[in-house]
Amino acid sequence: MSESMQGLKRTHHCTALSSANVGEEVIVTGWVQRRRNLGQLLFITLRDITGLLQLSFSENTEKEIFEKAEKLRSEYVIAARGVVVSRGEDANKSMKTGDIEIDVKELRILSEAETTPFEIVENSDVREELRLKYRYLDLRRPDMQNNLILRSKVAQSVRRFLETEGFLEIETPILIKSSPEGARDYIVPSRVHPGSFYGLPQSPQIFKQLLMVSGYDRYFQIAKCFRDEDLRADRQPEFTQIDMEMSFVDVEDVIGINERLIQKVFKEAMDMDITLPITRLTYQEAMNRYGSDKPDIRFGLELKELSDLVEGCGFAVFENALKEGGAVRAINAKGMGDIGRKQIDSLVAYGKDFGAKGVAWHQIKADGEEKSSFAKFLGEETLTQIKERMGAETDDLILVVADKPSVVYAALGALRLEAARRLELISKDEFKFVWVTDFPLLEFDEEANRYVAMHHPFTMPKDEDIPLMETDPGKVRAKAYDLCLNGCELGGGSIRIYQKEVQEKMFELLGFSEEAAYSQFGYLLNAFKYGVPPHGGLAFGLDRIIMLMCQSDSIRDVIAFPKVKDASCLMTEAPGPVEDKQLEELALSITKVEE
Ligand code: AMO
Repeated sequence: MSESMQGLKRTHHCTALSSANVGEEVIVTGWVQRRRNLGQLLFITLRDITGLLQLSFSENTEKEIFEKAEKLRSEYVIAARGVVVSRGEDANKSMKTGDIEIDVKELRILSEAETTPFEIVENSDVREELRLKYRYLDLRRPDMQNNLILRSKVAQSVRRFLETEGFLEIETPILIKSSPEGARDYIVPSRVHPGSFYGLPQSPQIFKQLLMVSGYDRYFQIAKCFRDEDLRADRQPEFTQIDMEMSFVDVEDVIGINERLIQKVFKEAMDMDITLPITRLTYQEAMNRYGSDKPDIRFGLELKELSDLVEGCGFAVFENALKEGGAVRAINAKGMGDIGRKQIDSLVAYGKDFGAKGVAWHQIKADGEEKSSFAKFLGEETLTQIKERMGAETDDLILVVADKPSVVYAALGALRLEAARRLELISKDEFKFVWVTDFPLLEFDEEANRYVAMHHPFTMPKDEDIPLMETDPGKVRAKAYDLCLNGCELGGGSIRIYQKEVQEKMFELLGFSEEAAYSQFGYLLNAFKYGVPPHGGLAFGLDRIIMLMCQSDSIRDVIAFPKVKDASCLMTEAPGPVEDKQLEELALSITKVEE
């Protein structure tokens, strides 16, 4: 039978006690981590949210209490009253409270526990499926608790900073109108309006812009967002944004305040100093040098342009790529000059996974011997120029991709990361931030055969590029920026269009008729008729920030109750079927889907 806590109110958390408390009578509570029974002596390691504390029972302990302690098993919940005593020479240096223990005078078993499906210990190597099925037990583990404690600290630090900067925390709705732009929406059927659906917000974007129209000047929200997209290690179907919007600002203002926010939060949560200003790269620079719009700048191995050197070189693969409007670029994987043919082949295959038709390579071994997949097709002079441009020395491996620019960037960007992993150039405790600015306004969607907004349809073009909207829309750069950390996109935002003519032009480029634009975004376009301040903002992925702070490889480790790859929850088994009655009320019928 479980006992009551009556009269045993906790006086201290486990790790609030130290040798300074020796002699005091205290009451502690928590879970039994383990019991060690040495005959005359019995020790319980007690665990609470703060850490571990030893309880001791000896021949001096009342018999009845000693016998009760003998019954304790892992994960029983107990309360104990006792006196803090020094462990003297028996101190356990690996435990924060290792130089004291509690000589127990009263013990209550508040709740018993069955044997848990896995042991509640730090750095468990238990399968993730089992951990997620019993997430409430997994969350008892100290490393998971530390992650969520850090997450809470970061959220509070963000709130404090933004409050002092004059931001108002305002909630926006979760049941909204579904919009087909962007990722796929989650939708919710309406009972009152049969056949009609709400969408869940992919972000509070339009509402925060409306708040600017309403004159709220500076808004923020720690907001839940929902996107029905393919999941990866850094993506969840529901995730959290630190979302903000500001009025009467331009790019520098938004970047400035967010740099200071990041600096403050990393200092408060991690005691880490970030030097401002944060490095900046334009989108074009990031692509040219790193093959990625979220470059990992912790290491070099940068891409170099070879197109000018190989024009008319005689090697059909390079020449054809150039003729078709493509490019030839390369990286020098320094230190890989001595790898064997099998390893080279696996790098080539890796590049092909990212769309490259092939990867040409040239190897200079440590003893100076050279091997190459393409040297025989080129003149001596061209090869020398290539080696010079790539800074090639002994023990180097040059990897070349000739293709459409997008394929060249994707394949070499991926090969650069893979080479760095194999060369162990990536250090997890180094934090390198970079702003990527001047994104293209539009992207051409080959499938839909039309332009789509790279960020969203309300993103402002750069002032000097507005005329290009008429003549060469693909070249227009946007007032859009992303903040990246160690190759991960932490956040992004833009200055928004606030002039009617520019917005109309933008919709025209996206292939929206005026009617279609109004039917989808009418409430925003109408609002813009009544006086709209220039405005812009940004949203950070909170989960991603915490994931990188914890040096974890998965966003699931920093979300209390995450979903797995197929967007299901292993603990609650959501999503699940609903009763026929519910379907009827919603006027829905289900078409049988084959498994
Ligand atoms: P964006 O779509 O770039 O911008 O999202 C901002 C940040 O949110 C995080 N993020 C995600 N995190 C986890 N799982 C996901 N599925 C996921 N998708 C995005 C990323 C990303 O950088 N409204 C705009 C912001 C603005 O313009 O102000 C927006 O949502 O860290």
